[in-house]
Amino acid sequence: MTSNETRRSLPLPPGKLGLPLVGETVSFLRDRDFQKKRREKYGTVYKTHLFGQPTVVLIGSEANRFLFTHDNSYFTATWPESTRILLGPQSLAIQSGNEHTTRRRLMAQAFLPKAIAGYLPGMEQLTHRYLKQWETPREMTWYPELRTYMFDIASTLLIGTETGSETAYLGQIFKTFCGGLFSIPINLPWTQFGKALRSRTLLLEKVEELVRRRQQETEPRTDALGLLLAAKDEQGNGLTLDEIKDQVLLLLFAGHETLTSSLSSFCLLLAQHPQVITKLREEQEQLGFTGSLTMEMLKEMTYLEQVIKEVLRLIPPVGGGFRRVVKSCEFSDYQIPEGWMALYQITQTHQDSSIYPNPKEFDPDRFSLNRTEEKQKAFGFIPFGGGARECVGKAFAMLVLRVFGTHLVHGYDWELLPDQNLELVTVPTPSPRDGLRVKFSRRG
Ligand code: HEM
Repeated sequence: MTSNETRRSLPLPPGKLGLPLVGETVSFLRDRDFQKKRREKYGTVYKTHLFGQPTVVLIGSEANRFLFTHDNSYFTATWPESTRILLGPQSLAIQSGNEHTTRRRLMAQAFLPKAIAGYLPGMEQLTHRYLKQWETPREMTWYPELRTYMFDIASTLLIGTETGSETAYLGQIFKTFCGGLFSIPINLPWTQFGKALRSRTLLLEKVEELVRRRQQETEPRTDALGLLLAAKDEQGNGLTLDEIKDQVLLLLFAGHETLTSSLSSFCLLLAQHPQVITKLREEQEQLGFTGSLTMEMLKEMTYLEQVIKEVLRLIPPVGGGFRRVVKSCEFSDYQIPEGWMALYQITQTHQDSSIYPNPKEFDPDRFSLNRTEEKQKAFGFIPFGGGARECVGKAFAMLVLRVFGTHLVHGYDWELLPDQNLELVTVPTPSPRDGLRVKFSRRG
């Protein structure tokens, strides 16, 4: 262990802090090659200034191991100010220490194997409904449709919204809310942040209405909202209404934004690689799949799992994660000062050619049993983060991707329409600039 004095004599990482206050935030948000350019210039540890804070960016499996194993000692949760305010002070993503551990244990119950299996029938039903609905227009801009579908899945299965109009209303406000999550936190009627803050108030009102309705039911339910309502702390007290509202908002946000992005990447990459669709259909035939799923059958679909992993590797929905440095430390002979932010990098880790040869290529076979490239280095495949703050909804996310992927490939054909911009907008999560325009039809 290096003494504090020696540590202070270590240099800060290379890089620049940019303009006063704003730092490099504008390029971080607007330039999709921000990380790549700086990595090429400064290497895998560099400094910048984001969202009002000096920040050290840490790239690669070793850096991920360092950060994940020191969560709660050198690092604690933090988000840019806009995200922090919009998610609310009692959101799991913001909580730390003991409070984080106990709440996480509680919320994780909604994603245990038994709960996950319980979501399957409802998920299949909703998936069929949306796939059928998309048959009629034949040509559509798919991304907004996928977002509506995903929001319906998250709100129906996790918090039990019941009517189409209720879900559609929530989904609409959520769009504006998500638009401000990573923005400059200036609250004016026309700023992204100001609009998102007003959406937060509307969302909380609606969630409160749902909670009150639920409290009047005699039979407790076992979905995520049911668990939050039944939860007791060590002293036997229930969670406050304000905390339940913040946690529900987080589940809805985390549960649909990232998944919409990964579903759209799945559809895009498969349209560009029809040979992968053929192999998925062969796997379904070999397993005797005729239209109705069981958890056992999903587990046997190993090629489908490889495809999903490769989608999440190549276009990770979450590009990285922020932490606040609570105790000065060192990494790679650079000092990381207390009070700064640290940002670990998922997208860049997944592009490491020493783990993934030809990293830009979409190649699901890299996850096959005889290649297992992701196992070359610990923390080299981290679409869901890692350590104490690893995604709590991972199993739910994998189930959605498997169910959607299976039924889409089994029953439908889709092709990309010409003359569209497929470049990815990356904030808050990757999506094709023109919204993924496709021709969609039922298989003959
Ligand atoms: C945290 C990715 C889906 C709920 C995270 C983190 C990542 C991530 C990378 C860690 C962030 C950090 O290190 O600070 C993803 C991806 C998803 C997905 C790629 C879909 C493909 C979901 C779903 C839910 C969910 C479906 C819930 C329904 C959460 C929550 C946290 C989290 C509550 C905070 C955990 C904590 O701070 O302890 N997710 N997620 N996520 N995710 Fe997900």
